[in-house]
Amino acid sequence: MSPSRFEIIEACVFDAYGTLFDVNSAVASLRDRVGPQHGALSAAWRVRQLEYTWLRSLMKSHVDFWQLTADALWVSLREFSLDRENLHEELMQAYLHLAAFPEVRRVLALLRQAGLRCAILTNGSPMMIESAVANAGIGDYIEQQLSVESVGIYKPDARVYQLAVDRLGVSAERIAFLSSNAWDAAGAAHFGFAVAWVNRYSQPPERLPGTPAASLSTLDELPPLLGIC
Ligand code: LAC
Repeated sequence: MSPSRFEIIEACVFDAYGTLFDVNSAVASLRDRVGPQHGALSAAWRVRQLEYTWLRSLMKSHVDFWQLTADALWVSLREFSLDRENLHEELMQAYLHLAAFPEVRRVLALLRQAGLRCAILTNGSPMMIESAVANAGIGDYIEQQLSVESVGIYKPDARVYQLAVDRLGVSAERIAFLSSNAWDAAGAAHFGFAVAWVNRYSQPPERLPGTPAASLSTLDELPPLLGIC
């Protein structure tokens, strides 16, 4: 851990899914329709969605995150024998209206008050991220919503992280990158950002290239890390 890396920060760049928005809230909102397997379905959907991002990047066969998320759900519903009625369509619509984690608005407001620039850098397609941001009412705090669609490959390809440097015009070491996804935190640290891993679920650290400079339980710990109280 090297908190001093956070003394020169000019911009905070946030991962979206799992970091600002609770990916489990989509299935949870249809818990009664899905039944007792709702937790397992949500976990399988998320794992397959991420696997597809890595596999498609390796295969050099990109489709956007909306299509890929739909494909991952299609297979996951069949895995649990839940491919019935309009469930696929309803879950996809719910994915456009994910709940933000409770501290998100409060923390973004504090960062903006302190003069820090805030952006999102996500696998999500522009349509998906616009919907999630509007639904959470955080659009006023977010200067730029950056999607991998601009580079046509998924995280943790370095071209994705470079997008934040280029679009914000801020060097990597002056960008604090926040992600709850340990592999994304590793990828971003390997790239050169000052990374704070938002370890919401008390997971063990990954053994990958790139070590986060700090580890937080929730985003509430970010303002103090940046010297904002
Ligand atoms: C994203 C995924 C990694 O928002 O959660 O980019």
